[in-house]
Amino acid sequence: MTDGLDGVRDHYRATGLVARLKTALAVFGPDDQRLAPQQLAALDQFHTRGLDATTELAKLAGITAGASVLDVGSGVGGPARFLAATYSCQVIGVDLSEPFVDAARYLTERTGQGKLVSFQTASALALPFDDARFDAVLLQHVAMNISDRPRLYREIRRVLKPGGRFATFDVVVSGGEPHYPVPWAQTPATSFLLTEETTRAAIEAAGFRTVTWKDDTEAAKAWAARLRASGPPPSPNLGVVMGPGFAQFALNLGRNLMEDRLGILTAVFEAA
Ligand SMILES: C[S@@+](CC[C@H](N)C(=O)[O-])C[C@H]1O[C@@H](n2cnc3c(N)ncnc32)[C@H](O)[C@@H]1O
Repeated sequence: MTDGLDGVRDHYRATGLVARLKTALAVFGPDDQRLAPQQLAALDQFHTRGLDATTELAKLAGITAGASVLDVGSGVGGPARFLAATYSCQVIGVDLSEPFVDAARYLTERTGQGKLVSFQTASALALPFDDARFDAVLLQHVAMNISDRPRLYREIRRVLKPGGRFATFDVVVSGGEPHYPVPWAQTPATSFLLTEETTRAAIEAAGFRTVTWKDDTEAAKAWAARLRASGPPPSPNLGVVMGPGFAQFALNLGRNLMEDRLGILTAVFEAA
């Protein structure tokens, strides 16, 4: 397929993920013991700088109690659970990967957040929601898997209320071809990186006004250097989700940042 969606689905197929999570989470106690969302942070925040990045992005997005929030490409649901726990907002996550959606539902059951947080399997390019449904939309480390950026940002604009916020935290290409594999792609065939400037142009063209524009590459480099020195956090970590190859993915991400091949961008927009 030319849009790469099948290849992206394959990358995040995660066979038997719920069973692996059940086994890995036994370190926290029996199955029927409720978990705090922050206990899962090493395995459910699937992006550079983990929970710190989600915390900062949520603040910039201006989310308030009772707000209706959509997390596009919600992974195993860590950001959605964090938002609901912190702001008492209603969060729906959508993701292309059915195993990730199953895992997100399982983890949400374990944290007892089912009243505020739910997940659906869907593509970001065809969001299953009415126009003007959400107060805020988050997109964290997802756009680099999507070739049709104009359609992605148009879909996000469509489901946002006028004046609603779109907060994105993503990887951009800055100087040369990255080393692969990386956490989102084995090869360039499923990696669709843009520069900072082309990302901004695509988002504004979809009907957004820029509110915050921040180059977070230096913070990401510091995080990667700390990780290289300390090694991965103790299990359960993202290795449970992505398998034993995850250590190599993370090393290459760090190397690409250090060599200024990739950059990290935080940006918030208002729906015009
Ligand atoms: C690196 S993970 C980030 C997950 C989550 N946003 C987080 O930060 O924890 C990328 C996620 O984007 C999802 N994804 C990629 N392309 C997508 C698409 N076209 N529609 C919906 N989800 C997509 C993947 O399935 C995966 O869960």
